[in-house]
Amino acid sequence: MKHIVSIEDLDKKSIMDILKRSKELLPIAKGKKQSKALDGKILATCFFEPSTRTRLSFESAMQRLGGTCIGFAEPSTTSHLKGETLSDAIKMVAGYSDAIVLRHPREGSAKLASEVSKVPIINGGDGAGQHPTQTLLDLFTIKEEVGKIEGLKVGMLGDLRYGRTVHSLSQALDRFNTRLFFISPDILAMPEYVTDELKMKWSAHNKIDEILNDLDVLYVTRIQKERFPDIEEYRSVAGAYKISTDLLRNAKSTLKILHPLPRVNEISTNVDKTKHAAYFRQAFNGVPVRMALLEKLIGRSK
Ligand code: NCD
Repeated sequence: MKHIVSIEDLDKKSIMDILKRSKELLPIAKGKKQSKALDGKILATCFFEPSTRTRLSFESAMQRLGGTCIGFAEPSTTSHLKGETLSDAIKMVAGYSDAIVLRHPREGSAKLASEVSKVPIINGGDGAGQHPTQTLLDLFTIKEEVGKIEGLKVGMLGDLRYGRTVHSLSQALDRFNTRLFFISPDILAMPEYVTDELKMKWSAHNKIDEILNDLDVLYVTRIQKERFPDIEEYRSVAGAYKISTDLLRNAKSTLKILHPLPRVNEISTNVDKTKHAAYFRQAFNGVPVRMALLEKLIGRSK
């Protein structure tokens, strides 16, 4: 049994196998073919923080494969409100399901859950920590949109400090010999615990204009308002970046823009119609990729 707490829990070969399998599963993800691969299996989705895409695409993935889901999206309806600890809750839910997707505001919560759970824990985001399954769908999207991952020039823009998606994605891209450009206000720079481990070339910037024309992929993130200890600090950086069609005039014609979503105002809606916008296809890709992951973790051959 394997837990997916961090993207480091998957080696490059396992990642490539999941991406390959995700592609094969596309007709089932789109509802054009039926599957009973996870018939009789139960996925629990325990979400202690808001979510639209992660929870619903996991539930869609599970049901497309013939499995069923239990869970909650609003912890105030559970015994959490009576003071039950996360580890007690996980021990219980592990008895009701074959795998658990956990989203929680505390960094380290998925790791804690993995230590007490007898079924696989899948980290659906732990505070400002990690979001490994988002990374899998980000990698799948890059491969589908650009044709390859290896050697690309990738810019990450916005909240690199509190944004968990960019932490996991940087660690994953390190295995693909990419070149990373981290673009953020100084106070939202990529944490050193991530950059210290990177073997690939990377550089930090405040301005997007100076490097945009060089990029193959631009990964935009939302400023994570809810994680700022001080709202004044948030206000000082809110709206720091806005990707507009004007700005994109300097971009490569093949540039692809990704965003884990939700967006607030960091990408102008005019960009949605351009050939650069890949973020809505990216959101759909959560379904086939999470199907491939579920198959690997709780499929019959296991
Ligand atoms: C992200 C998250 O929750 O970390 N959303 C997602 O899972 N697609 C990004 C965000 O909330 O900004």
